[in-house]
Amino acid sequence: MKTIIEPFRIKSVEPIYFTTKEERKAILAKADYNSFRIKASDILIDLLTDSGTSAMSSNQWAGIMLGDESYAGSNSFFKFEDSVRSITNMTYIIPTHQGRASEKILFTVLGGKGKYFISNTFFDTTRANIEFSGAEGIDCICEEGRHPTTAAPFKGNMDIAALRKAIEEKGAANIPLVMITITNNSGGGQPVSMQNIREVRAVCDEFHIPLYIDACRFAENSYFIKLREEGYADKPVPEIAREIFSYADGCTMSAKKDAFANIGGFLAMQDLDLAIRCRNLLIITEGFTTYGGLAGRDLEAIAIGLQEVMDEHYLQYRIRSMEYLTNKLIEAGVPVMQPAGGHAVYLDAKEFLPHIPVDQYPGQSLVCALYEEGGIRAVEIGSLMFGKYDDNGKLIPATLELVRLAIPRRVYTQSHIDYVAEVIIEVFNKRNELKGMVITEETPLLRHFTAKLAPQPQTLNAQP
Ligand code: F0G
Repeated sequence: MKTIIEPFRIKSVEPIYFTTKEERKAILAKADYNSFRIKASDILIDLLTDSGTSAMSSNQWAGIMLGDESYAGSNSFFKFEDSVRSITNMTYIIPTHQGRASEKILFTVLGGKGKYFISNTFFDTTRANIEFSGAEGIDCICEEGRHPTTAAPFKGNMDIAALRKAIEEKGAANIPLVMITITNNSGGGQPVSMQNIREVRAVCDEFHIPLYIDACRFAENSYFIKLREEGYADKPVPEIAREIFSYADGCTMSAKKDAFANIGGFLAMQDLDLAIRCRNLLIITEGFTTYGGLAGRDLEAIAIGLQEVMDEHYLQYRIRSMEYLTNKLIEAGVPVMQPAGGHAVYLDAKEFLPHIPVDQYPGQSLVCALYEEGGIRAVEIGSLMFGKYDDNGKLIPATLELVRLAIPRRVYTQSHIDYVAEVIIEVFNKRNELKGMVITEETPLLRHFTAKLAPQPQTLNAQP
């Protein structure tokens, strides 16, 4: 088989920024050891997120010029609605400015004290919106999903027995919906199988609970189903995507991921009464129902991107890029989430840095080292992001301590990825020198965005 190549050529380029290691040390200290606090112009390869960072196609840019900026009933809205409907078959389609705006509206309407929502794993903004409403989010990830370095085809699957148990414990009447996140971002960008979606649907039917999909990476998940699930090898991706949505009563979507847009999202559903309540809130917080916090040109870019993302040459290259980097790391002995996820490579910080205890945030220590060594920006998905405190102020750690290197869509080439592998391997070879971190300032919700940290001086280094 020949090399799988980037299925595009480059028409417009932008600079990346080189710094010295000494400069990066000073930049890190000034940013209080939090990668969110570093200026983009101080980053060489930015793998903080795959969200809103895609390179748009010439077609999308052309669509931008067609944007109809009418306040109500814009042409661009109808193109957007048609595009979303062709994939999801949802009746009511509500544009929002990004995924979390959809979540805020949905959980404000359905949430509140005494309510519970269940997912394979809620993404952090989703969980935050649930908790902000007074409700609780419960994650029921399958057993394979808890072991980062054990390979399994569908590690994003919901644990059906745990789902059933949670429903029985909390009472179906207190559960306004169950949500499946595809792919499971917080669990390593791992896919959910069609079989699992069907099984979740059956449990929801039994208890009369609606099923929603957090569809941010629906195309990547669909392609994994095509590659790995029996009976799907010959089905076109759009057909697989339509089948996924056919089991759902609604979905939330961030168009900043699998729609190649720099901003945007939507909320869609089959239930008219719920749609009316959501639209009322939309008008207060986002805008009129045919633009929902977006410009007409953004709606155009999303409408086009949603179709482009299902191109199988693109998806083959996309999934292969993650595998390529993952395999290079495995060869060098680096503990990495396996198999490769759909949008990112995840390092297992607990195994990478066994000498740093979880309450000293090994993931964040690794994030800082990757920046210092090679100007690469990654993000911790572990106890800094998800940790809580018990009544005595002791950290309740996250299940996994991961570092995510999210790959923006259509942005970096193979040599960028080769460089990233070299930097990670270099840090791995001197891992015993890395120290733990201490939080010096934090906020109660979503603390990882703004927290200030410092290196923990008293961490004992492991013997090499
Ligand atoms: N759901 C999932 C699974 C996500 O990954 C995200 C965003 C959202 C919802 C919220 O969407 O950002 O448009 O408001 N994930 C980004 C990330 C931020 O870096 O993984 P949003």
